[in-house]
Amino acid sequence: YKRVTTKSLVDMKKNGEKIAMLTSYDYSMAKIVDGAGIDVILVGDSASNVMAGHETTLPITLDQMIYHATSVVRAINRSLVVVDLPFGSYQSDPKEALRSAIRIMKESGGHAVKLEGGKEIKESLKRILNAGIPVMGHLGLTPQSIYKFGTYTVRAKEEAEAEKLKSDALLLERLGCFAIVLEKVPAKLAKEVAESVNIPVIGIGAGNGVDGQVLVVHDMLGMTHEFNPRFLRRYADLHTEMTKAFEGYRDDVKSKKFPSDDEQY
Ligand code: KIV
Ligand code: NA
Repeated sequence: YKRVTTKSLVDMKKNGEKIAMLTSYDYSMAKIVDGAGIDVILVGDSASNVMAGHETTLPITLDQMIYHATSVVRAINRSLVVVDLPFGSYQSDPKEALRSAIRIMKESGGHAVKLEGGKEIKESLKRILNAGIPVMGHLGLTPQSIYKFGTYTVRAKEEAEAEKLKSDALLLERLGCFAIVLEKVPAKLAKEVAESVNIPVIGIGAGNGVDGQVLVVHDMLGMTHEFNPRFLRRYADLHTEMTKAFEGYRDDVKSKKFPSDDEQY
């Protein structure tokens, strides 16, 4: 396999090839995602929700993110692995931000980090980028700020927030970020942002005018029936499939159909 790099993603945008990105948090899932030709694997802090069952992304720690990232990296042949810096590991000061990013790169072997925010975290972004660590930005509905927003509804519908988002995107490009995730903003605005920068803009709930798409892998596999945002397309119904498998196994054990004579030593 030819490995995906931060440079190949920028080339994809130039050539009009859309970027396919999914999350993973463990070895077994990442092996399948990588093998399927997904360009970018995000070790998202959505692990806090999906893997640990927290209500928000805030509780997950840097150590826990490194554990998830290390497991993912062991599975990879081709995909670029981007790792989220968790809440609290980069907001207090730029030196701590750099230390956190260095820990992720050294201990997990991930290829890049992702941070939420624009102007507010400018000094942290500079330090991390100066150390040669590739950075993916994240604007729009940034879940680490959910208590500031107070709602998971679409962001930047008002002029002021849309203007800030546009200038933040330009700032991220100017600082040297290799890509930007844009979450839950109007499609028209997302398209405008994507057209205003040369680095790829990867959307989630941001329409089809951007340079790529990202989804949480458990959501797109239909492993939960509860989470139903408009932007989510389910490519499987694993909740139903897995329930069928577990019930079949339970029934076979109870009725003594498993194991059969052939399934023992
Ligand atoms: O943590 C995550 O899964 C993310 C994506 C939704 C972009 O940040
Ligand atoms: Na995230």
